[in-house]
Amino acid sequence: AHDFLIAPSILSANFARLGDEVDNVLAAGADIVHFDVMDNHYVPNLTIGPMVCKALRDHGVTAPIDVHLMVKPVDRMISDFIEAGASYITFHPEASEHIDRSLQLIRDGGCNAGLVFNPATPLSYLDYVMDKIDMVLLMSVNPGFGGQSFIPGTLDKLREARARIDASGRPIRLEIDGGVKVDNIAQIAAAGADTFVAGSAIFNARQESDPHDFDSVIQKMRAALAQ
Ligand code: DX5
Ligand code: ZN
Repeated sequence: AHDFLIAPSILSANFARLGDEVDNVLAAGADIVHFDVMDNHYVPNLTIGPMVCKALRDHGVTAPIDVHLMVKPVDRMISDFIEAGASYITFHPEASEHIDRSLQLIRDGGCNAGLVFNPATPLSYLDYVMDKIDMVLLMSVNPGFGGQSFIPGTLDKLREARARIDASGRPIRLEIDGGVKVDNIAQIAAAGADTFVAGSAIFNARQESDPHDFDSVIQKMRAALAQ
């Protein structure tokens, strides 16, 4: 059995009151904060950068911040996010000129390092760097937007990634990102994931009567994982 982490993606939060949104999902039982960085170059959307990560730390967020870099090039953003208080930094191998160097930069900065795999990106990028990896992040949608549907073929890829991680004997987290909902999270866990990003499923679940209520959706996810 794995210890499961729930990682709300703040891409679907209200950016006009981001500090409160993050406080509220953490108070509702979320484990880590998934922070999507998009540059309108590697992906066709533009979001938030190191200043916003630093602002969350200054606001008092002590939970791990899981920075998912969808940027090209990556190395400059790695150093900036280390300075800004990131806990995990993951990047897409296609976006780095020197994957081993980028991983080493993250580790030298005291952060946990990971590679992100788009739906059609082969896991063979892991072949020679497994000893430098703390997290494998599989995209179950094409990156760039929240609210897309889970691509079913990702389940087989999760099983393959789980086998590689178990064979390595290292404590590597296996994270899934895209289209994770209360009704598919158990199946995703059964395929080997232990860390679950959910954006729209968490931030769109609020009742109009209580815009701060994330408890019920996070509890439903935990209940589904406990089965
Ligand atoms: C997409 C981002 C995801 C996104 C997931 O490129 O990496 O983290 O926020 O959103 P949902 O959970 O709505 O699919
Ligand atoms: Zn993400």
